Amino acid sequence: MNKRHFSEKFYEKYGNRNDRPVLFFSPGRVNLIGEHTDYNGGYVLPCALNYGTYLLLRKTSEKLLRFSTLNFNEDAETVINGLFRKKDKSWINYPLGVMNEFIKRGTDISGLDLLYYGDVPNAAGLSSSASIEMVTAVALNELFSTGFTTLEMVKMCQKAENEFVGMNCGIMDQFAVGFGKKDHAIFLNCDSLDYENVPVILEDCSLIITNTNKKRGLTDSKYNERRSECEKAVELLQSYRTVKNLSELNTTDLPYLHKYISDPVVLKRAKHVISENGRVQEAVKVLKENNLTRFGELMNLSHDSLRDDYEVTGPELDTLVYEGRKLPGVIGTRMTGAGFGGCTVSIVKTGDTRNFMAKLARVYTEITGLIPDFYKPAIGNGARKLSF
Ligand code: GLA
Repeated sequence: MNKRHFSEKFYEKYGNRNDRPVLFFSPGRVNLIGEHTDYNGGYVLPCALNYGTYLLLRKTSEKLLRFSTLNFNEDAETVINGLFRKKDKSWINYPLGVMNEFIKRGTDISGLDLLYYGDVPNAAGLSSSASIEMVTAVALNELFSTGFTTLEMVKMCQKAENEFVGMNCGIMDQFAVGFGKKDHAIFLNCDSLDYENVPVILEDCSLIITNTNKKRGLTDSKYNERRSECEKAVELLQSYRTVKNLSELNTTDLPYLHKYISDPVVLKRAKHVISENGRVQEAVKVLKENNLTRFGELMNLSHDSLRDDYEVTGPELDTLVYEGRKLPGVIGTRMTGAGFGGCTVSIVKTGDTRNFMAKLARVYTEITGLIPDFYKPAIGNGARKLSF
């Protein structure tokens, strides 16, 4: 991102070159392993990306919020008068939801000019929404000196997404973009919110993200359906053991579940969550031992479980993963994020990445008719103010 170009655009839009805006950034995230475990109180292992959302903003004397983005032609103005109301299908709902969380906690939001720019693809399972939310939160926190901790802002952003935007997500995305650390993954217990930064040392390997470029369809409704299936499993398991979430069980409980959960679909969902928690714990252990081979196997097993037991993959993600695994130098590959479309994350020997991308693109297009995009991200830091 060219900062000079970005601030030029800001002045073109809002004028007054004597009043300099302040620049903030929040990353997107990629989850290495631990999918659909966060809202079950389980383990996840995401990392923040060096791609994300940039925000330039400054206070004004008008009682007006002016929003603009370099990504779409969709500007908006909103008068400040109490809590904001949801707009119809607009990206502005992410910042507005966050602003409401500030207002509810007593912040007197004054007039603002805001310009956003994101270089993380939208609706691709890389947390572009959490990134917009967190960049807004850190900026408001600084401009209005509200003194919220990162954890408070993470929770406020998740609330904004759940209650204002209406997507019932867990806490992983906001946590990862808030607490990201360069060259580290975040091993997070989504129940206690205890976390550890685990170094990601890939040596002769690279991370590759592949975007299916499948248009998002029923992701939100299917996501909510999975959540209720997990709640159903917890309800049925009470006669086995008193548990508040599926993650209180572990892999030694797996052989007994069928006695309490007669619905085969609910049983599979529980099996995924419990086995995935086990995989994340092992993944952290082998990552610390520099055993990337086993780490890659665990990524593969995670995808298999998401396909067979959790059923959130689909032909596009499965094509990328199972065709990808046939190629030389692939250590592990799996879907990342909510699923149904979006992206895969792969660890590939650096010398083989070019061949991986070329061959996978060819076969993916042959099978699905879609053209994939590839990204070679670095693991970056969390949401923060940037200097010019
Ligand atoms: C989405 C949600 C997260 C998490 C993942 C699946 O990204 O926002 O909270 O549930 O799906 O692991």
